[in-house]
Amino acid sequence: DPSDPTEPFASTLDVLARILPPHLLNPRVGIVCGSGLSTLAASLREVVEVPYSALEGFGKSTVAGHKSALAFGLVGEGAGVPVVVQLGRFHAYEGHPIKAVVYPIRLMAKLGVQNLIIASATGALNPDLAVGTIVTIHDHLAIPNMTGWLNPLFGPLTSSDHTRFLPLSDAYSVKLRRLAFHAAHALGLPDDALAEGTYAWVSGPTYETPAEGRFLRAAGADVVGMSTVPEVVAAREEGLEVLVLALVTNAVVIPERYRSIKEEVKAELEGRKVETPPEPVVNHEEVLTVGRLKAELMKSLVARIIEMIPRD
Ligand code: 6GU
Repeated sequence: DPSDPTEPFASTLDVLARILPPHLLNPRVGIVCGSGLSTLAASLREVVEVPYSALEGFGKSTVAGHKSALAFGLVGEGAGVPVVVQLGRFHAYEGHPIKAVVYPIRLMAKLGVQNLIIASATGALNPDLAVGTIVTIHDHLAIPNMTGWLNPLFGPLTSSDHTRFLPLSDAYSVKLRRLAFHAAHALGLPDDALAEGTYAWVSGPTYETPAEGRFLRAAGADVVGMSTVPEVVAAREEGLEVLVLALVTNAVVIPERYRSIKEEVKAELEGRKVETPPEPVVNHEEVLTVGRLKAELMKSLVARIIEMIPRD
């Protein structure tokens, strides 16, 4: 039971120590891949994939576009940087306890990961953010009841290194966000390819209603998604530096006024013709499609950032 504070880290670490060559066992950077972004692992050298089924404490990722494996390997030239990639993440809406959602993050911390890069699919609330933009997250909103009252830190403290009241005003690493913009420059990306903004976390699995989108936008969020924040919170508790690259896969359409069925019926009864377009509806397929379209760009950006992280 991964919600037990005596989580099975020891046995999971044991399994990994037996499977992995020593130079891959202590990754410096952890990467979490969201919807359609699993190909981030394709460019790793000397890659070893370990299926979640071999690892205690791991559930199965049940969402289309998510794999269920950890990939260990090297990024970059020469000796390379050892990294671990989480291919397929867990969401509370799949029925996973919130502690299981963040278990891989805590495992990465125990493997020696110091920097965490999370790539996620999101909907844009800010009309300035076009589909395909990558947003470096600088803050988040996780309002109880938009998140089903979920917080991965509910329950007893699991380490004497942790503090009860974790600050999150510095959750998103300035060091890594600077590297992201330097990497974008080095890759010659256009100015609007990489933006910055605030992530609103909602529990899902329903997409937002227009009123919820309006609410979140008014509250100051730029993008909205169903993941990421639990992992960020646990990563901060573990002392990791965190970078979130939120790919905008669709726009959350917030109509200024609703299509009025009352007006439509009135017009119909009066023999007038009215044409009001239906509200657009988001679907998981378009989210995956944009993820796949942008996977190469995301991959080069992540690789470049990793190579720029100073070794200590
Ligand atoms: Cl529009 N909403 C949420 N909650 N998550 C998303 C999304 C929208 N698009 C991608 N992920």
